Amino acid sequence: MELNNSKVLLAASNVAHSFDYLLFENVDLSICEGESVAIIGVSGSGKSTLLHILATLLKPKRGKVIYDQSYMYEQSSDRLIEIRRDEIGIIFQSHYLFKGFSAKENLDISSIISNKKIDIEMLKKLKIEKYLHQNVSSLSGGQQQRVSIARVLTKKPKIIFADEPTGNLDKNTADDVMNVMFDYIQKNRGGLFLVTHDEELAKKCDRVYRLKDKRLIPLIM
Ligand SMILES: Nc1ncnc2c1ncn2[C@@H]1O[C@H](COP(=O)(O)OP(=O)(O)O)[C@@H](O)[C@H]1O
Ligand SMILES: [Mg+2]
Repeated sequence: MELNNSKVLLAASNVAHSFDYLLFENVDLSICEGESVAIIGVSGSGKSTLLHILATLLKPKRGKVIYDQSYMYEQSSDRLIEIRRDEIGIIFQSHYLFKGFSAKENLDISSIISNKKIDIEMLKKLKIEKYLHQNVSSLSGGQQQRVSIARVLTKKPKIIFADEPTGNLDKNTADDVMNVMFDYIQKNRGGLFLVTHDEELAKKCDRVYRLKDKRLIPLIM
C-alpha cells in the first residue's frame, strides 16, 4: 500500500469499540512513514482505547487494523508479542520504569533486548544525560517520563504510540520532547500517533483528528 510515494505503516478500517456503551464507530485512519498523527478529544471520549486498539493491545469489537500487510488481530499471539516487542513503542501516561535501577540500566535493558545502541545525542536532547547513573526513583516525574521516552526510542520502533507523553512536563521541556520524537520519525522513517487533549501540541503533528460524538473527524488546522 502506498500513498504519496510513502509506505502506509498502519491503517484502521471501520473500527468500532464499546465497553458498557458505544465509544466510537466507523473509525478510518492511516499513518505513513515519516508522518505524525494526533488524536484529540475530551477526557472519556475514548482516545486511550483507540490507541490501545492501534497498538496491538486491544481487539476492537468491529473493524480491522492493518499492519505490515496483514490483519493485526488475526495474527497469532506470538506474532502480536513480537510486534509489540520489536516493531512498536508505546509511551503511556504513567511510565513503567524498573524501580530500583538507574536510568542507564533501564536504557540498557531496552538496548540489550532489541540489540540496538543507545543514542547519546537523543539523551542530550532529552536533557537526561546527566542523570543516567541516578536511581530512577530519585528522579522527578518529568525526568522519569523522559527516561521512559528514551527507553522506548532506544529499541528503534517503526511506530511510536504516545498517550499524553508530555503530561508531567513544563512547556519548554514538552517542546524538547516532542522535537525528539519528530526528529526520530523523520530520521527513521517511522510514524507517531500522539493522543492528547492539548490542541497546541496536536497542531505540531502532520494531521489531527478529533474524537467526538462517537466519530473520528479529520481536522483542517
Ligand atoms: N477496560 C475498560 N473497561 C470498561 N470501561 C473502560 C475500560 N477502558 C476504558 N473504559 C471506559 O471507556 C471510556 C473511554 O476511556 P478512555 O479511552 O480512557 O478515554 P480518554 O483516553 O479519551 O480519556 C471511559 O468512560 C472509560 O471509563
Ligand atoms: Mg486517556
